Amino acid sequence: MMKKPAQMTPQQFRALCDKVYKLCGINLKTGKEELVHSRLQKRLNALNLSSFEQYFKLLDDDRQGLEVVWMIDALTTNKTSFFREIQHFIFLREQMLPKIKSNSLRIWSAACSSGEEPYSLAILLAESIPNFKKWDIRILATDISTKVLAKAKEAVYDSETLEPIPQDWRRKYFKKEDPSGKTWRLAPELRSLVSLARLNFMDKFPMRGPFDLILCRNAMIYFDKPTQENLVRRFYDLIAPGGYLFVGHSESLTGANHNFRYIQPAIYQK
Ligand SMILES: C[S@@+](CC[C@H](N)C(=O)[O-])C[C@H]1O[C@@H](n2cnc3c(N)ncnc32)[C@H](O)[C@@H]1O
Repeated sequence: MMKKPAQMTPQQFRALCDKVYKLCGINLKTGKEELVHSRLQKRLNALNLSSFEQYFKLLDDDRQGLEVVWMIDALTTNKTSFFREIQHFIFLREQMLPKIKSNSLRIWSAACSSGEEPYSLAILLAESIPNFKKWDIRILATDISTKVLAKAKEAVYDSETLEPIPQDWRRKYFKKEDPSGKTWRLAPELRSLVSLARLNFMDKFPMRGPFDLILCRNAMIYFDKPTQENLVRRFYDLIAPGGYLFVGHSESLTGANHNFRYIQPAIYQK
């Protein structure tokens, strides 16, 4: 028999908004009650819980922060793709790389989802830097979600996911994971450039930087202005003078209080 859906009262919705905001800075908007309800209901069903009170208790008792990952995955999207927002990659290749004289590069892909963003960077660098093997390149890739990080670690993608990558690059950097050619795995020499780690933006940043480039794309959209400003300030502190911040094209910092210099849409320089 189908289980009766749990009821969510307006007070519970408000309590949930407070909890989500405190845990991960995500600002659930009023008017989204139905969407939030239906998405979390699926999680309640999976856990065999019959009320949101039970679910909140579980979140409160969740010392390791494992349930919060499920909750964030239910409430946000991990949508990403290879070479998403191509202007950033063009800027990196044409404007940034030619000016780097040190043969070293530190990049942070913050909110990296399932790895398409940091691996696109690795592919682009391998293709754009003539003596690439001699460079000291490190790409840190973080996300709050352990689920997407596990996928990023595997670095196995189906052929449709690889479509935005030019054919010859695909052939060069991916090996068949199954005989039918449905799934493909990124070459180890590019995987090894990327270090994956779990990081919630609400926590203290353990890294010291400085980074030549930080990408925080399509994650800040979920945060309110004070949270965004705070995050952008902390990114600023970790970026080397002259280094860059890339944000999602729908996440302009216009009107936000920050010290970056605007370069072009979604690109800022320290
Ligand atoms: C839509 S994806 C963007 C992926 C990639 N940057 C891109 O633009 O294609 C947003 C990612 O932000 C992550 N995220 C959401 N809240 C976060 C937080 N508080 N700390 C760290 N990552 C978070 C989600 O887990 C998700 O993988």
